[in-house]
Amino acid sequence: MKIACIGGGPAGLYFAISMKLKDPAHQIEVFERNAPGVTFGWGVVFSDQTVENLTANDPKSARIIADEFAHWDDIDVHFRGTCITSSGHGFIGIGRKRLLEILQARARALSVVLHFEAECDPADPKWKDYDLVIASDGANSRFRDANPEAFGVDIDVRKNKFVWLGTSKVFDAFTFAFEETEHGWIWAHAYRFAPDCSTFIVECSEETWATFGLDKMDQAQALAVCENLFAKYLDGHRLESNATHLVGSAAWLNFRRIKCERWNHGNVILLGDAAHTAHFSIGSGTKLALEDAIKLAQVLNSEGLSLEAALDEYLAERNLEVLKLQNSARNSTEWFETLDRYLHFEPLQFAYSLLTRSQRISHENLRLRDREWLETVERWFWEKAGVPGKSAAPMFAPFTMREMRLENRVTVSPMAMYSAVDGTPNDFHFIHLGERALGGAGLVFTEMTCVSPEGRISPGCTGMWTAEHVDAWKRIVDFVHANSRAKICLQLGHSGAKGSTKLGWEGNDVPLDDGNWPVMSASDVPWSPVNQKPKPMTRADMDMVKDQFVAAVQMGLEAGFDMIELHAAHGYLLSSFITPLQNTRTDDYGGSLENRLRYPLEVFAAMRAAWPKDRPMSVRISANDWAGEQGVTPDEAVEIGEAFAREGADLIDVSAGQTWADAQPVFGRMFQTPFSDKVRNEGRLATMAVGNIYEPDHANSILAAGRADLVALARPHLIDPMWTLRAAAALDYRDIYVPPQYLNGQAQLARNLKREAEAAAALRV
Ligand SMILES: Cc1cc2nc3c(=O)[nH]c(=O)nc-3n(C[C@H](O)[C@H](O)[C@H](O)COP(=O)(O)OP(=O)(O)OC[C@H]3O[C@@H](n4cnc5c(N)ncnc54)[C@H](O)[C@@H]3O)c2cc1C
Ligand SMILES: Cc1cc2nc3c(=O)[nH]c(=O)nc-3n(C[C@H](O)[C@H](O)[C@H](O)COP(=O)(O)O)c2cc1C
Repeated sequence: MKIACIGGGPAGLYFAISMKLKDPAHQIEVFERNAPGVTFGWGVVFSDQTVENLTANDPKSARIIADEFAHWDDIDVHFRGTCITSSGHGFIGIGRKRLLEILQARARALSVVLHFEAECDPADPKWKDYDLVIASDGANSRFRDANPEAFGVDIDVRKNKFVWLGTSKVFDAFTFAFEETEHGWIWAHAYRFAPDCSTFIVECSEETWATFGLDKMDQAQALAVCENLFAKYLDGHRLESNATHLVGSAAWLNFRRIKCERWNHGNVILLGDAAHTAHFSIGSGTKLALEDAIKLAQVLNSEGLSLEAALDEYLAERNLEVLKLQNSARNSTEWFETLDRYLHFEPLQFAYSLLTRSQRISHENLRLRDREWLETVERWFWEKAGVPGKSAAPMFAPFTMREMRLENRVTVSPMAMYSAVDGTPNDFHFIHLGERALGGAGLVFTEMTCVSPEGRISPGCTGMWTAEHVDAWKRIVDFVHANSRAKICLQLGHSGAKGSTKLGWEGNDVPLDDGNWPVMSASDVPWSPVNQKPKPMTRADMDMVKDQFVAAVQMGLEAGFDMIELHAAHGYLLSSFITPLQNTRTDDYGGSLENRLRYPLEVFAAMRAAWPKDRPMSVRISANDWAGEQGVTPDEAVEIGEAFAREGADLIDVSAGQTWADAQPVFGRMFQTPFSDKVRNEGRLATMAVGNIYEPDHANSILAAGRADLVALARPHLIDPMWTLRAAAALDYRDIYVPPQYLNGQAQLARNLKREAEAAAALRV
């Protein structure tokens, strides 16, 4: 094949090499606009896995690259006058210029033709003479941008400003240096990539950049400012820029996250940064570019594969990798963009939060990397929880709200069981909740228990409106108190427009075949076209429902509950007031957020007044309607949390969605935790995170990073009531309360899991 590679960066050069290795008969030319040896940027970091991939593809160049790697293990986080060092991170880095020299030499040795100082124009007719034109022309690809629709280009320009500098100061550790200035925080990401040189990326918010006047300074002035700011880290070494082709403030960039729906059009194929970018803070752009090159060369040389099929395979495999990395990169990018949120953290937690920001590195990863450091974090966490001197998994640390002390941070999330008759919980609920309390969770929630027959979601929902209900609940609460250390929280709610529907497993949110009851809501907006049109609540309705909530709270007290939660999420009655998607009222209860919150807050305040001062209350909210600006946004969620806290809520249970039938949620591991993080750290409130948290490692990472105070698990508890005891066995945590009847089982499980872990570790060695 006759192939032109546009751009002599890592992607273009490595693709040329890989193609020649597969078949020396390919005619390959690389066109690079710069002279050899002229490039932007300084060093790049790799992982061991990337080196393995390079070695498998071309051992010759891999060996030369590997020989020149700088290795380092430590990460130093400088914050508020403290340096937190953790180890075992295993980085390798190389200068970009040196990497390109190695690849250029290897390409030449394989008879790739290299053209330098050759600016390529996509409109040039000569590209038609090539079988393939590889657009490896970087993030600002002209070949991609000549046809943005054909490639389905999606570019997200991120908020912060950064500049990629270098210095002769040699950093021993990967260094994050955060500095507070009169204009805001500025920080550096610095790492060594050669015996005498380090990369030094400076980043700050756009506001800080502008108020500092960095936008108006020329390069020399900006360098002088940065040298001054970071003088204590530079030990007299200078900062240098090699972006001399960029004039003045243009050397400061906004990172552009790029993704493309399609990676080929006509004879043009996108490769590397032209197809996708990953934020520099997770250091994976070069890895992706090189791995794209390997894959593309492989599919193009696969016998029996048509060009179309080859390109389909290339896109399918590489796009998946890119999406995974971009997901982590997004978390990492956002961490730096929302730095203000974490500035109140103590340095140790700040460093932990930074290290785990992308969700790719977890608590147990950190333990493997640096056990001693992780134990310092755990000891700190337990001390903050009021237990000094103890180092154990954060999920087992106690948590106190008012006079209620939870044994640990795991909760059984509220889950409707659709198994009550006339609202009365029965033996099913007794066993179900009792068993989950025996399973070791610190707090067990009841399902949404409805304050009136009409407030039920389905005929099978539990209720709290008769003395019979109180007695049935009391039996369950008494069992929990007598046989476990768990506390039990009554979740109270009213279904609103989502009421009068079938049992969950007969059809979610589907109206009953017969026996429907009338429903009411904030407005007359039906949940979906098949659901009833609700009656908009009058003031008299509001008073009646508020009284029902208060009566249910009083009954909850009689039944002996430790805590009450108000369900103001998921599109049910109170949520229908909060979300503008369901609330079209024009009176004092519709319109602004303040108005939309008025009734839910009124109900909450009345409940709070009826509930003893020494017992806590929480509110479940939907922190995101997943409907963009049309619905509740995470920013509003902070205000919602704060408003309930002002009325006496001790905990915000941060759920999301289910408020609008056409919502577009983005699922994934721990997918709602970022909302809890936001509400907790921007609103400075206690929160509970929920949503696809299923491993002890998730729970510990969330808690230690201060993304939530409690973690709630729903579906994992459906299938495993003993989730917390099992986690204790797996983590070899002996201090958890185990019902005496079960002690032998716990001991056996702990022993077996320990043996399994030891055998797995022996295999790794
Ligand atoms: C601040 C910063 C830090 C980074 N840190 C890391 C890191 O630690 N690890 C990592 O893996 N990645 C890192 N990256 C990302 C990495 O630089 C890129 O992902 C990688 O260079 C992509 O390789 P590429 O070959 O696709 O594109 P590039 O390296 O951008 O190469 C494209 C080449 O095409 C040339 N070109 C462009 N247009 C034309 C044209 N019309 N005609 C001729 N030539 C043209 C350019 O001159 C350039 O040489 C970082 C990026 C930034 C901005
Ligand atoms: C069967 C089932 C019933 C649920 N019922 C309720 C409920 O009554 N009240 C509530 O607030 N959330 C309810 N939820 C939502 C869960 O509490 C939780 O927020 C959600 O399932 C996400 O957590 P998970 O990923 O751990 O399952 C229910 C979830 C399930 C699976």
